[in-house]
Amino acid sequence: MSSVLFAVLLILLTSSSSLKDSCCVSLSLLFLSLKGIFAYLNYCVPRTRKEIFETLVKGLQRLEYRGYDSAGIAVDGPNKTTTDSIKNAICLIKKKGKVKNLDEELYKKDSLDLDEQLCTHFGLAHTRWATHGEPSAVNSHPHRSDKDNEFVVIHNGIITNYKELKEYLIIKGYEFESETDTEVIPKLIKYVYDNQEGDSVAFGKLVERVIQQLEGAFALVFKSRHFPGEAVATRRGSPLLIGVRSEQELLTENIPIQYNSVHEKNSRNRSDSVNSINSVGDGSAVEYYFASDASAIIEHTKKVLYMEDDDIAVVTGGKLSIHRINRKHGEDPVRAIQTLQMELQQIMKVVLGGLKDHLKEIKRCRRLIVIGCGTSFHAAVATRQILEELTEVPVMVELSSDFLDRNTPVFRDDVCFFISQSGETADTLMALRYCKEHGALTVGITNTVGSSISRETDCGVHINAGPEIGVASTKAYTSQFVSLVMFSLMMSEDRLSLQTRRLEILNSLRMLPELIKKVLALDEKIKAIANEMYQQRSLLVMGRGFNYATCLEGALKIKEITYMHSEGILAGELKHGPLALIDKDMPVIMIIMKDACYTKCQNALQQVTARSGRPIIICSQDDPEIVKNAYQTIELPHVVDCLQGILSVIPLQLLSFHLAVLRGYDVRSGHNFLSEAICNDAHLI
Ligand code: F6R
Repeated sequence: MSSVLFAVLLILLTSSSSLKDSCCVSLSLLFLSLKGIFAYLNYCVPRTRKEIFETLVKGLQRLEYRGYDSAGIAVDGPNKTTTDSIKNAICLIKKKGKVKNLDEELYKKDSLDLDEQLCTHFGLAHTRWATHGEPSAVNSHPHRSDKDNEFVVIHNGIITNYKELKEYLIIKGYEFESETDTEVIPKLIKYVYDNQEGDSVAFGKLVERVIQQLEGAFALVFKSRHFPGEAVATRRGSPLLIGVRSEQELLTENIPIQYNSVHEKNSRNRSDSVNSINSVGDGSAVEYYFASDASAIIEHTKKVLYMEDDDIAVVTGGKLSIHRINRKHGEDPVRAIQTLQMELQQIMKVVLGGLKDHLKEIKRCRRLIVIGCGTSFHAAVATRQILEELTEVPVMVELSSDFLDRNTPVFRDDVCFFISQSGETADTLMALRYCKEHGALTVGITNTVGSSISRETDCGVHINAGPEIGVASTKAYTSQFVSLVMFSLMMSEDRLSLQTRRLEILNSLRMLPELIKKVLALDEKIKAIANEMYQQRSLLVMGRGFNYATCLEGALKIKEITYMHSEGILAGELKHGPLALIDKDMPVIMIIMKDACYTKCQNALQQVTARSGRPIIICSQDDPEIVKNAYQTIELPHVVDCLQGILSVIPLQLLSFHLAVLRGYDVRSGHNFLSEAICNDAHLI
């Protein structure tokens, strides 16, 4: 949780000069898809099997922060030749639980010679978070086409038409072993392979045929024993990027896309002889890294290519080429290999530059719409009031999914903000595309340089909060919050009547790091409160005005990492129903600060105590009146009202952390490590 302090100290509020044009990745990478893809191909670069294991495991460790419940890899092997051994065999090793459990498992396989040098090899690795089927080795990835592992695949996302595909494939005689949606994919590619005319269809072409049948969202990486040393990757609605490492200068850093007209005639031979200008690598030593998140790649190489929806990346003979079925109108026919470090350095120097370029246009807008999910939505709720006050335009805050469900009217003179830590959340991304179609100016507030939202918005801010090492978004919330406050300050810099207010906020922003330290020093007290309540089933959090967002965010954190029911309640709504829940046994936290809502909050407090409630009150320091009516208090230092939420959320973040630990959950991944220790199981196929 010291990350909260770290975040504010590091609130660089830097931004790209245009997120759209930015071709860069910082280490502040987050994607809460709760799954991770990593794959490594070494071409003419001798690596021992042990080194390959280490690279794959390291890749998964970099993705651990997303949360997962099982992990697996696919590598070539076993290498021992026996009479019944299969040519180009693939070995899957999968394990429920931690990556470190998988790591230990890898070294237990006698059939895999760890010291064997593999000059060219392609390995897959994946962390899974159970959505279809319980966490288990058999449900984890890679998934396979059949018992001989002819095709294996790792997948992030969701296949929405998997039931229909599964039914069809079962009729065709394919046997399924897992409960996942993913398993239809390796079965489908084998079906396409088995039913091809002749045997010359290239690997990439098989994948192309498969994805034409898939509905939903996916990032996929395929490996096949029919195509040793080859890799195929594709995506739709789920991020995927490719890192390239080579001693040689790359032939090109702009890869022209090969469209179906060329690709259609592809045979395996044809794709081997891809024109070098259309591919990366000239057939000499090269390594490729495929990942759902650049944090797994950046230690190996700074040269990366971001795949776009429906791109099919093929590595064959050490050459990387990009294929697509059709060319859409206005589509960029080239994929650029981007250099991460240089751009990162550039970004660090810029201060809200991207917004500055568009400020005139933004100032002319008739309405601001701030859109996000979960914690990112709460950052919008937290800052709505100050945005309205300082911009003097109507501000709507919207949950991305609901915004889309309603087909909300959006106009050309609207400015739409997309708040997303990962920059990849599907609903927010879809809302962004929807707003673009309606002609609105789009602004991204993301923590992930190079993410889809940062690339597709017209401009924006990179919050540079650094990686969230855990499922719960915490310091990103703080940084999103501060970014939006900063934006409201920018919008009002030429408004004379607002200068006193602006100065007050600016001074408070400067004091924030010190004040946050003081709040963090309350940790022991919060731990003691957690000790008292960790066996409770429910916890209500109430507040209003500038602190309402803290109630929503605190309750979300409690639900998310402690698995306890919790509800954030607007104190003004108490008498309209929720009061019925209050009695001496219901744990209640109230946020009552000395601000414009103070008297109204005192009324709510009276209602709670009248029903024998025993509220724990997060309040301003030196407020004897409140202390008298509280069961316990958590006293916070004074800060300007619109920044109170930055401080008041910290006790709730700390509380959820302690509650989770006391209830036996691993806060980094959201797992119950007590039960996990009991039911770990290994699975070697
Ligand atoms: C909660 C949390 C989620 C995310 C939400 C949106 O701790 O992390 O509620 O805030 O899934 O994700 P982003 O911000 O990446 O769009």
